[in-house]
Amino acid sequence: MARSPQRHHFVVVVFLSLCVLLLYCHSNTSLSASISASQNPNPDPRFLPNSRPETRAPTPGFTLLIKVLAFNRLDSISRCLRSLAAADYVSDTVHLHVYIDHFDNRSGDVESSLGASRKILDFVDGFKWEFGDKLVHYRTGNAGLQAQWLEAWWPSSDDEFAFIVEDDLEVSPLFYKFVKSVIWNYYYNASNFSPMIYGVTLQRPRFVPGKHGNKLQVDGRTRVFLYQLVGTWGQILFPKHWKEFRRWYDYHKAKGIKPILEGMVTTGWYRRLGEKIWTPWFIKFIHDRGYFNFYTNFLQERALSISHRDTGVNYGKTAGPDSHLLNEAPHDFSLLEMQPLSNLKWYDFCFREVLPGRVVRNFNDLGVVLDTVQINETIVLVSLFGFQEIIIRNMLCHFERLNIRNYILMGLMSDLLFDLARRGHPVIAADQFLDSVGANELKGPVNSSPELIKNVMTSTYAIKKCLELRYNAWVVDANMLFPNGGMFQALTDSTFDLYVWKSLGVIFVQRSSAVRKLWLNNFVHAVEAGDSLWDKLSIARENGNFADIAASFLESKRVRVKRIDDRSLGVDIGRSIVDQASPGLENKVLYWSADTAPDVIRKRLEELKMWTLDGDDSCSAVVCHQS
Ligand SMILES: *[C@@H]1O[C@H](CO)[C@@H](O)[C@H](O)[C@H]1NC(C)=O
Ligand SMILES: *[C@@H]1O[C@H](CO)[C@@H](O)[C@H](O)[C@H]1NC(C)=O
Ligand SMILES: *[C@@H]1O[C@H](CO)[C@@H](O)[C@H](O)[C@H]1NC(C)=O
Ligand SMILES: *[C@@H]1O[C@H](CO)[C@@H](O)[C@H](O)[C@H]1NC(C)=O
Repeated sequence: MARSPQRHHFVVVVFLSLCVLLLYCHSNTSLSASISASQNPNPDPRFLPNSRPETRAPTPGFTLLIKVLAFNRLDSISRCLRSLAAADYVSDTVHLHVYIDHFDNRSGDVESSLGASRKILDFVDGFKWEFGDKLVHYRTGNAGLQAQWLEAWWPSSDDEFAFIVEDDLEVSPLFYKFVKSVIWNYYYNASNFSPMIYGVTLQRPRFVPGKHGNKLQVDGRTRVFLYQLVGTWGQILFPKHWKEFRRWYDYHKAKGIKPILEGMVTTGWYRRLGEKIWTPWFIKFIHDRGYFNFYTNFLQERALSISHRDTGVNYGKTAGPDSHLLNEAPHDFSLLEMQPLSNLKWYDFCFREVLPGRVVRNFNDLGVVLDTVQINETIVLVSLFGFQEIIIRNMLCHFERLNIRNYILMGLMSDLLFDLARRGHPVIAADQFLDSVGANELKGPVNSSPELIKNVMTSTYAIKKCLELRYNAWVVDANMLFPNGGMFQALTDSTFDLYVWKSLGVIFVQRSSAVRKLWLNNFVHAVEAGDSLWDKLSIARENGNFADIAASFLESKRVRVKRIDDRSLGVDIGRSIVDQASPGLENKVLYWSADTAPDVIRKRLEELKMWTLDGDDSCSAVVCHQS
């Protein structure tokens, strides 16, 4: 079938201009705080990054347990315990639990293994611990590193924290004061608390697991920040998250589900070492939940905990200390000074900055968020109204894969919406957003669905803000996917102001002065005035959508509308049979109509290798891009 030049142009621009890479989106640090702080009547607090926990005064119940994991390395454990005993515990009671794994009698020389165990037991028995109880757990069989970690702790309260110390670590005498200060400031101070944070690591941040383990670069002014990756060389665990992990692990282990997360260097470790290590399990869990860990950046390779990387499970031969131990209070910064949580930066497994908590509840706040998401002055408004959770999550995994970053999600307030926001996806909470412009009371025609009205209203006002700020805007629904690319860019053909793809409900609004004027002055008022517009378009009776309503109205006002109705550019996968080999598929939009059953969509997308969720409905892969 021949295509007209213009149509061809449309295809080329939308679907083939993929080489465009992202602008790295720098956070405006005041943003997440100011937006989360605005009023919010009844969200589930678990989903709000900066929400208050139940009021907890700094409590004498706070305890840190030190859990040392030892095996057969006498030199290592003696260095480790001595460093722990040299720390300043500011008169607190701190208990020491030492777990000594048994040797594996199938490997090595039994006589020398027995001798080594005896020496370790003698040393630990003779070791004086003045700060609390010392408890030694000597195993009867070889448990391995995974069980050593996982069985080291079951928290006895929400005020009990554990510091897990592998025996080849050495800690700074200042470590306890620092950890206590972090927990005081970010766990017990409700205005700085986030339920998304699972712990604190004292090791130096080193690598990016989603980028082949590449070295990590933190900017020089950052001292404390949040990063998803666990830091096993000095990890402090928070009680609730650890229990949640143990239960998750049990479930997956019992069902034979492996912790495979494509794109991660740690999944390669799992494929090689299997159950010898535990980190791939924890990393998969953290990715699923979207949790974060405190890290320090003390410059000059300094850290409060270092690994000597002695021969053992992790190292075939001794590699030496990974960092410089910070033994004294530094002169160049203040160790115990803590910034408010809203000043800290958050990073994902790609070490890309995440901006959690961007929930727009007010028309006037929308501009700040649009500024953080726009790319080349273009915004993609994604309507989530009425779509199933897994369809939305699958779409967002595609956005990650294709590096689509300039979007904002619009939907009704729900647990899902808050979960997406706390994971860093910007959202518009439609009900409150419409309240803020006094548009929530507006009624469409009798029998029209309230969701459709809210959808139309929210899109209308979101575009209004885009045009006020001179941004181009796409409006798309969550029921479409772009197999290959789909960086939403501006359509720059100056002969049209508006592009409409009716069968898909997609619209592109150009920030031309003609559209801006009509949108701001006429269309918004027509939508507000309601009845006549709605009736004329009879959207309650037909399969009308926002794109069509806007186009018909503006066309009647002589805005230059380009209607693109050629279904050959899109494939309705609920109705037509396509497979991966279908010619030209990569340049088409896959979509389905609202009445297609979810399991049919899923099956079709699986066949097309476009289903990107795992059994927990999380993205099955981490995909990093250049930043
Ligand atoms: C922004 O527009 C310029 C000029 O058209 C283009 O070269 C660049 O690739 C675009 N960048 C993005 C991220 O779309
Ligand atoms: C963040 O945005 C606010 C309001 O737009 C502005 O006053 C402030 O200077 C910005 N801060 C940074 C660090 O860009
Ligand atoms: C060695 O360990 C295995 C399992 O840990 C055990 O079944 C076996 O009896 C042990 N052998 C000896 C000689 O102790
Ligand atoms: C809690 O944190 C806030 C914000 O950082 C701070 O202003 C306040 O002083 C802290 N409260 C206490 C008791 O430390």
